[in-house]
Amino acid sequence: MKNRLYFDISKNNIEAKKKLFENIKIEQDSIGYYNLPNQDISSILEYASSFDGNIEYIVVLGIGGSSLGAKAIYEFLKPINCTKRKLIFFESTDPISIAHTLSQIDISKSHFLVISKSGTTIETIAVFKYIYSLQNNHEYFTFVTDKDSPLEKFADEIKAKVFNIPANVGGRFSVLSAAGLLPLALTGIDIQAILDGAKEIEMSFFNDGYIKEILLNKAFFYAKNHTAYHISCIFAYSETLRYFCEWFVQLWGESLGKKQLNSAFNVGLTPVGLIGPKDQHSFLQLLMEGTRDKTATFIKIADFKDELTIPNISLPYLESLDIINKIEFHKLINMQCDATFEALKAQDSIPLDEITIKAVDGHSIGELIYYYELLTSLVGQLINVDTYNQPSVELGKIILKNKLQKLKGQQ
Ligand code: PA5
Repeated sequence: MKNRLYFDISKNNIEAKKKLFENIKIEQDSIGYYNLPNQDISSILEYASSFDGNIEYIVVLGIGGSSLGAKAIYEFLKPINCTKRKLIFFESTDPISIAHTLSQIDISKSHFLVISKSGTTIETIAVFKYIYSLQNNHEYFTFVTDKDSPLEKFADEIKAKVFNIPANVGGRFSVLSAAGLLPLALTGIDIQAILDGAKEIEMSFFNDGYIKEILLNKAFFYAKNHTAYHISCIFAYSETLRYFCEWFVQLWGESLGKKQLNSAFNVGLTPVGLIGPKDQHSFLQLLMEGTRDKTATFIKIADFKDELTIPNISLPYLESLDIINKIEFHKLINMQCDATFEALKAQDSIPLDEITIKAVDGHSIGELIYYYELLTSLVGQLINVDTYNQPSVELGKIILKNKLQKLKGQQ
């Protein structure tokens, strides 16, 4: 992975950067995600290798941090990896979506992964109850949840297999735990490659590698300018990164949008996920000429490993577009990325940076995920929020439960 920053980096914060780095090192003792690249995944791999050969669909019942990470990686790798099994997600209580998703699977050839860290999320349990009413053989279910959660107790009761999410790994930081790795491994994706990518960023950051200075500088920029540039856009030039953008939106928004610690102020950076070239024909105008409140990170894929080429055909009245003839699509999309980047660079005061990942592979997505997790932790420290809690999400869950209890009382 390469990352170039095109904004002013204050030279005066050497001591502050040192302190930030020390703080993150201290967090390593209590925040579990930092060490996930080094975990032992043998139990996941063994489970995956002994898995029933008749199963064609791995079906995730989960929401938020319990589905977005696996989905981001699966959807990134899917177009170029012929997976052993399809990964399908039930992430909503929308009845139309439930019925539609159900129509895409054959229940007798499906294995259901019920993923919920708390084990009590209404959306997940509601969908699980529905699926369980259609298929109640415990062998068709595996549960991923916190140790001793109500869901683990239920799974034990029906004698189903359980994997745990480490207690100190938060929901939206859990993609590299069993919550993300188990579904991916069951589809046949090489999860070690993903961890290797994450490890490369981890080593580079914690062992004074090239990414350390970049991440510290970038975090300082975001934090120092968080009132002026409060919207953080990712402009990813590949459809494969669509769900990575969704994952980023949750990670960034839910981690940084908070009341500051010991303060009356509410802060946060608003995440926006854009996909090029599509969003050149939509959001770009706002980015280029709109209010100067947005930063943009361009993400490019260096090698698409694809030679699909625009044919050498000249069409009447469209001769002026013969300039695209014989150009490979991978070249075209990256040229579009460069052109948009240059156009933005020529404008005044739009902070930009560019990340280039090597290819559409597990290593690259592992790098990208760990990079963004680290960046989130760094910015969280600097804007003085508790990066790892989500009081407002919890409040919504409590209000919903109260409403449901009231409804039950009226029946
Ligand atoms: O980041 C978080 O903690 C949340 O967004 C959770 O991932 C989400 O609410 C789902 O919770 P759970 O995994 O407990 O079902």
